[in-house]
Amino acid sequence: MASLDRRRFLTVFGGASLVWPNAVEALALQLAPGGGADDEAFWGVVRGQFLIPTDRIYLNNGTLGAPPRVVVDAVAEHARRVASTYPPGVAWDDVKRSLAGLVGGDPEGFVFPRNTTEAMNFVANGLDLPEGAEVLSTNHEHIGGLEPWKLITRRHALPLKIVSLPAPATSSEQLLEAVWGGVSDATRVVCVSHLTFTTGTLLPVTELAARCAARDIVLVIDGAHPPGMLQMDLSTLGGDFYASSPHKWLLAPQGTGLLYIAEPWRERLWPTLASGGWDDMSLGAHRFNHMGTMDESRIAGLLAATEFFAAIGMARVEARVRYLRGLMQDGLSAIPGVSVVTPSDNALNAAMVSFRIDGVESLALQAHLSRTAKIRTRVIGEYDYGWMRLSTHIYNTPADVARTLELLARVARDGVPARDERA
Ligand SMILES: Cc1ncc(COP(=O)(O)O)c(C=O)c1O
Repeated sequence: MASLDRRRFLTVFGGASLVWPNAVEALALQLAPGGGADDEAFWGVVRGQFLIPTDRIYLNNGTLGAPPRVVVDAVAEHARRVASTYPPGVAWDDVKRSLAGLVGGDPEGFVFPRNTTEAMNFVANGLDLPEGAEVLSTNHEHIGGLEPWKLITRRHALPLKIVSLPAPATSSEQLLEAVWGGVSDATRVVCVSHLTFTTGTLLPVTELAARCAARDIVLVIDGAHPPGMLQMDLSTLGGDFYASSPHKWLLAPQGTGLLYIAEPWRERLWPTLASGGWDDMSLGAHRFNHMGTMDESRIAGLLAATEFFAAIGMARVEARVRYLRGLMQDGLSAIPGVSVVTPSDNALNAAMVSFRIDGVESLALQAHLSRTAKIRTRVIGEYDYGWMRLSTHIYNTPADVARTLELLARVARDGVPARDERA
């Protein structure tokens, strides 16, 4: 069913009529023409779909997305339906199909935990790892992607090897060799980010997947960021498991995760949460969606989020978020005293840029930006990196970027004002 037909179909679900699909359909019609990366009239319409106050500049989508109004409405409508004692229920097939329309993959492979962290725990806990099996990861993984492996390797006395990635990276080959150089005969699992949270660097996961498959190594991809940011196709990306957080770039409700399970793992992975049907292999990956009573409203919100993105179009979204990141990165690179650690090669970067200013504490800078212009940022304190990260999404504008750069240039010249120094 085409997206528009599906939205029309969705307006009545479980006996109650829904409003949000009509809103998305109206938006899709309004957004039909235009939409180039610098088409400010088009993106102004998109900006109007968000609740972010106009005096705030939100550059921390990498931590949590700000859902558009239709997503908030879908969650509220679902909650209202439950409160009105309509039969609860999740339109699983619609959600899976709509999601596959955005990120590719076989709809049967989708599982909906609460976040990347939970998805990664499901994988780490669910594999049978033989004695001596080594897990390989990198020094650019988020705790949500890495700690599950720390737990499982400590519990079973298995080796965990961490390789170092270059920052900034200069080529895919360099990144591939940095990871592959750590592989040994003992390696049974490789877990890496698709796009690192530290520097916004794209890893060559497809090439890595081919190498892992040839050596019978399980490749687990921490894909917290790319869905909703980049055009992608899980059918051809490669790897065995893809863990993600649609509450980031896909702007789904907080607490909406995703795990894509490739074959043959849908029947092979051990469930961490056992409920009815956990051992019914005919359910495939859906076995993992049986988690007891859950907050279904977030799944209703996820469906609205995927339809919202379909109405805009992922090609337009990717071009816009890359365009804004490019403006930010070019501006940063032109400021004396700023060191950018995100690759300059567009094949390796996407919609986040990380940097530091010589002699400036990033936490003090963060407090200064917040206090001066209500700009929300993320400091990458992990691994003692001390970088500031800026994320650009579809609700940001070139004016947001210009205002941020203006303040950063002033700080690079004059330092952080004394009142903000004790962040
Ligand atoms: C790469 C990466 N992996 C995992 C996570 C954890 O995400 P969540 O808190 O949604 O589980 C994050 C969060 O920022 C992340 O950036």
